[in-house]
Amino acid sequence: MHVLLDGDPGHDDMLTIFLAAKHLDVVGITTVGGNQSLEKTTVNARKCVELAGLTHIPIAKGLPRPLVNEPRYAPEIHGVSGLDGVDLPDPTVELSPLHAVDFIIEASHAYDDLWLIPTGPLTNIAAALIKDPTLTERIAGISLMGGSLTYGNSTAAAEFNIYVDPEAADVVFRSGVPIKVFGLNVTRMASATVARLDRIREIGTPFARTVADLVEFYRASLHNVFGLEGASIHDPLAVAIFIKPELFTMQEMNVQIELNGTHTRGMTVCDYRYVGTEGKGLYGEEAVTVGAAPNAEVAVDMDVDGFFDLLTETLALYR
Ligand code: BDR
Ligand code: CA
Repeated sequence: MHVLLDGDPGHDDMLTIFLAAKHLDVVGITTVGGNQSLEKTTVNARKCVELAGLTHIPIAKGLPRPLVNEPRYAPEIHGVSGLDGVDLPDPTVELSPLHAVDFIIEASHAYDDLWLIPTGPLTNIAAALIKDPTLTERIAGISLMGGSLTYGNSTAAAEFNIYVDPEAADVVFRSGVPIKVFGLNVTRMASATVARLDRIREIGTPFARTVADLVEFYRASLHNVFGLEGASIHDPLAVAIFIKPELFTMQEMNVQIELNGTHTRGMTVCDYRYVGTEGKGLYGEEAVTVGAAPNAEVAVDMDVDGFFDLLTETLALYR
């Protein structure tokens, strides 16, 4: 299966690359401004592929700012570099000559089973959908980390990736493309505690120790900012569904992006009322359809230990 990873590395975006590359055909990495500036996230993507020996994967640089909003970064979570914790060597691997938006469109012509996996603000994906409306006919779908069924992190209502570029998210959720959503309600369950990071460190390779040190920085940030016990391994869930779908409980529902709202701009408004997924209601009778038809499959639960087994076993494949 072919996947294109679009993100803003970022500690958990980094793990997304490492997880995907050992199990799926990664046709490219496209970068976007988000956790840090586009310049920094692009350097970080290049550092990640060099750290892991994945320099065969092309990297294309994308858009530096959201469609409408002013840029907004997250140094309090990922540090001033966007990937603080270990001073990785300056990368030498070259970028693709293509802009990320064109890279996405070209990849959609080259592969007929392509899933886009965005793990940052949806700016590049929206721009590609706007530039080439026929893109919707050629991609298999979009599996994204963003939003939430419950609370936000940037605001009480909004999750960072959607909050940074709500207009881009709106384009994506209205596109008609099959969408899988991994929001904070599940990604905060994927908590890399000190014990889980120790398991990664105990793999014993220089690679695993470096990864554990990087994620430890991120864990400490999330502890300081949100009082969380472990590091939320948000982004890799959008990849893990293709490797071990049994790890997740998905539910179809309608998801809209709040673009206004006094307190709720950037919120994913998830219509949890829809129960007619198989033409049946919860108790087997004809479904009473309330609300709009589903436009997304939303993760509502996950097997946390199973996910960390998969992640740890995959990291052990690198040297
Ligand atoms: C999202 O924001 C970033 O900090 C993470 O990389 C993740 O994509 C979580 O809200
Ligand atoms: Ca991210």
